[in-house]
Amino acid sequence: MFKINENYLKLPGSYLFSTIAKKVNAYQEANPNKELIRLGIGDVTQPLAPSIIEALHGAVDEMAAAETFHGYAPDLGYEFLRNAIMEGDYRSRGAQIEADEIFVSDGAKCDSGNIQEIFAQDNKIAVCDPVYPVYVDTNVMAGRTGTYDPKSETWSDVIYMPCTAENNFAPEFPEEVPDIIYLCFPNNPTGSTITKDQLQGWVDYANKNGAVIIYDAAYEAYISEDNVAHTIYECEGARNCAIELKSFSKNAGFTGVRLGYAVVPKDLKCGDVKLHDLWARRHGTKYNGAPYIVQKAGAAVYTEQGKAQLKEQVGYYMNNAKVIFEGLKEAGYTVSGGVNAPYIWLKTPEGMSSWDFFDHLLEQANVVGTPGSGFGPSGEGYFRLTAFGNYENTVKAIERIKNI
Ligand code: MLT
Repeated sequence: MFKINENYLKLPGSYLFSTIAKKVNAYQEANPNKELIRLGIGDVTQPLAPSIIEALHGAVDEMAAAETFHGYAPDLGYEFLRNAIMEGDYRSRGAQIEADEIFVSDGAKCDSGNIQEIFAQDNKIAVCDPVYPVYVDTNVMAGRTGTYDPKSETWSDVIYMPCTAENNFAPEFPEEVPDIIYLCFPNNPTGSTITKDQLQGWVDYANKNGAVIIYDAAYEAYISEDNVAHTIYECEGARNCAIELKSFSKNAGFTGVRLGYAVVPKDLKCGDVKLHDLWARRHGTKYNGAPYIVQKAGAAVYTEQGKAQLKEQVGYYMNNAKVIFEGLKEAGYTVSGGVNAPYIWLKTPEGMSSWDFFDHLLEQANVVGTPGSGFGPSGEGYFRLTAFGNYENTVKAIERIKNI
């Protein structure tokens, strides 16, 4: 008789955003006349920018003629896109990353879930708490997290780095030294970030302790302050200890198009083994590349026109962030985030848990958000709203919350 991967049975409940979707659908079915405003999952609402649409159309037409048709993409991505990424996201910021250190993929969620495969089973991971659930859940699936304690909602073999108002939502170096450190800045879910100096501290810590940092920079486009690094490779020594993951979802609206990339520098080694070679092997074996059409659309992100259009789109969402931030503040809530990230993180009212507040907002304001505790135990007593809605609904949602 075959056996299953029993690690899957250890996972408590379903994926956070699936649980929320189920709850919201049940509410909508029971209350078909209520008009819900969804500020839960960080999914974009604005259409793709004109230069991206133009690139998509052009690439579709290319597929219609034998001379310009494209089959399998190169394992690591088309050179035109990798060069554009190298120039646009790294060289322009003074970061020394080569095109052949960039691995194009179908998104940062898959990369952040898959990357753990190249590490040994007995590595100990450290995560911020609260945290994007994918990092922990995929390590659970791989059998790396020990046993789950439902009371504390923690895993025995995971090092949690609490990020709360007390430490300004910035993780502190853990007492126990981890092997793999997941960092995401600007942060999902808290919407806060750390300075470039603080990030340099993490790079130094990793290099000193022989740890690797998995750096999720999905929200980089939302950075508005000068003292924040746009890539971990702005920090000295990061080529020796960090893998960076990027997404086209949040900066260019590709949540339904799917495109991302991972950077694995060739200097990042375990003994003599380059992690770059392992990831290349994995990529070549398990993946046939993001579609040509989509990679062409990705390259449009780096054109002058594309950049200008996307700057405007990011500005649109950041205006929503301001509406939420200021509106909630006026309504007496304690709020943070929303300055370098499209997420606003608020304290739930005294005596109300994150899930109580979720129900309260759903029922009283017909607004959907995300309970902070869904991201980890230190998220209890907090709640996340996204700025990715459309402006009109965002304004309406805040009015409704104010009127509860
Ligand atoms: C979120 O809402 O946290 C994100 O949209 C999830 C994701 O990017 O996969």
